[in-house]
Amino acid sequence: MNDQQLLDLIGQMTREDKIAQLLQLTGAFYEGFHDKELLTGPMEELGVNEAMVNASGSALNLSGARTITEVQQTYLKKNRLGIPLLFMADVVHGFKTIFPIPLAIGCSWNLPLAEKSAEIAARESAVSGIHVTFAPMVDLVRDPRWGRVMESTGEDPHLNSLFARAFVRGYQGDDLKGDKERLASCVKHFAAYGAPEGGREYNTVDMSERNLREYYLPAYKAAIEEGCALVMASFNTVDGIPASGNEKLMRGILRGEWGYDGVVISDWASIREMIAHGVCEDDREAALKAIRAGIDIEMMTPCYVHHLPELLAGGEVDEKLIDEAVLRILQLKEKLGLFENPLRGADPEREREVILCDDHREAAYELAAESCVLLKNNGSLPLSPNAKVALVGPYAESNDILGWWSCAGDKEDAVSLAAALRERMDSSRLTTAGCGIESISSSERDAMFAAASDADVLVVAFGEDVAMSGEGASRTNLQLPKAQLELLQQLAATGKPIAVVLFNGRPLDLTGVFEEADAVLEAWFPGVEGGAAIADLLLGRVNPSGRLSMSFPHSVGQVPVHYNKFNTGRPLTPGHEDERYISKYIDSPNEPLLPFGFGLSYTEFEYGELEISGAKLSRNESLTVQVKVTNTGLRSGIETVQLYIRDLAGEVVRPLRELKDFVRLALKPGETGTAIFTLTEQQLRYHHSDLSFTSDSGAFRVYVGSNSRDTREAGFQLVP
Ligand code: NOJ
Repeated sequence: MNDQQLLDLIGQMTREDKIAQLLQLTGAFYEGFHDKELLTGPMEELGVNEAMVNASGSALNLSGARTITEVQQTYLKKNRLGIPLLFMADVVHGFKTIFPIPLAIGCSWNLPLAEKSAEIAARESAVSGIHVTFAPMVDLVRDPRWGRVMESTGEDPHLNSLFARAFVRGYQGDDLKGDKERLASCVKHFAAYGAPEGGREYNTVDMSERNLREYYLPAYKAAIEEGCALVMASFNTVDGIPASGNEKLMRGILRGEWGYDGVVISDWASIREMIAHGVCEDDREAALKAIRAGIDIEMMTPCYVHHLPELLAGGEVDEKLIDEAVLRILQLKEKLGLFENPLRGADPEREREVILCDDHREAAYELAAESCVLLKNNGSLPLSPNAKVALVGPYAESNDILGWWSCAGDKEDAVSLAAALRERMDSSRLTTAGCGIESISSSERDAMFAAASDADVLVVAFGEDVAMSGEGASRTNLQLPKAQLELLQQLAATGKPIAVVLFNGRPLDLTGVFEEADAVLEAWFPGVEGGAAIADLLLGRVNPSGRLSMSFPHSVGQVPVHYNKFNTGRPLTPGHEDERYISKYIDSPNEPLLPFGFGLSYTEFEYGELEISGAKLSRNESLTVQVKVTNTGLRSGIETVQLYIRDLAGEVVRPLRELKDFVRLALKPGETGTAIFTLTEQQLRYHHSDLSFTSDSGAFRVYVGSNSRDTREAGFQLVP
């Protein structure tokens, strides 16, 4: 249907029909179609009636080809105008084939593989009947106390923007209508949800507009430029106004400045939550503010269906606003081909074929292997081929390694580390013993020490419980549970080398781990093939290549600690640690334990001189920056060569380092590769005090290296 036909359809709709299109309900409402008893509870609780359910525009978190087919067919019999229902769900890092958590994917720096993971997630969920995924989450994160850092690709606006684009491309492809195995993508949470004060979930976000535009908005914008079909409003305030009622943000920046004309959806109950925020007296005012701000779909509260009729009747809301919102929703349905084929990709046979198929598992394996970051290694990894290994700790035997937001995933499909090592090692060389995450019984301890007694090396699989990260899981303590730290001390007393493998959803405070362990491999929550990938990394069949996309602090007291910080007027310089009146802590370094971009390999890479093609950059030309990198070790490996810049004298203060580009070089032993970068004036632009996005003529530094700390540098001038 073209827009005119959609407008004609809107012309046939009553006000109630139109307003119901703006309502999104959970699956429970539709699954109750055949069972009034089941339906009554949810309806009474939410205060909606059957007519509203029958005309509602979209459903969330229902899946399964058979279920969705049945619900859609029943719904269409009830819907007077035969407008199909949209099915949306949180398909965040895979559907059934669960990939590593997004923060881990960020550490792969592998954009094609990230795109492939989204394509696979789309395929599996589209054949299960889903039309829209509430992903990617592209919130910039600097505070590991916040549980949802696991859903982000990290602390850098440039890297996050690249991943945002890759995910959107992977989910949507380039022909949503023709390719029924793709999904419409919903970027979230607009805006700045990743900056809650104190890292406390749902807390106030307050920052300057310049900060917002410079660091927090770019990844959403990148997703939109990539054609992302939906945007989800965040729970938080932006400059004092909750996003769901924030006209400046939604109509001003998103629709006005960026020209976005797709659907905007609230977050769960976020319209009604404006009452608790203290900017609305009641549901009526919440509905008014949200529709004025440009929120098209209300998720799981009934402010619109209850109050838009009277707001329209009283003239407080112009019917045009409703018609525009309905048109955008119908356009999305059309874009997905639902008017022609309301069942779209839902196909039980195809579902059986593709879900968790070998190709999908293989991609999950590759991404897990590339997401793990080797944080420390004094030589005890990879495990030597003849060593007797004891694998102990809470994640030794556990297959609960999918991570939060793996809603349709089943941990029974996941390979545990023990199972993977057993497959790869002679049984005489491997003993395993597990334990609890927060407490360890004496029999568990005995079993672990018995396993350790006969071993040459201990692999200790530690971590946070899955529920300790994700939505609603902020922490003030970033250490591993005490029981694990105590166990590590006791194991260290055996004098045997210890390699710690970490399963967790956020950068941790590794005090007590980093000193005791000989090697530390950060595995995050690695998804269904996690065990296999980690086993191959431990055994040296695969060489670690992941790089941190979020800094690891020394302690929670340093937070927020991120690489792209400012210098201050009294920076701490080496040799001046004892001076008082400089910007520092008296009880901690300023620097994080492990910086952005950091990750070790089983081989060594040697950098040559940094070459820059000129000392001056003019506005319409470019400079080439290049460096030779040689693999001087004995194994093939991937080096992620990173390029950062610094504007030495900006109109406003500029970060000490800003990532502008990177190149992944796969090098065999003895091989030399060249990382070649092109620098242009565009990369030097930033938001000035008047919010203009321009560059400053003058001196710049360029840094190239293996992480944000260890770099070689050169200088150039941007000339007017
Ligand atoms: C709340 C979360 O904030 C959001 O990310 C998610 O998509 C919705 N719930 C729907 O489940």
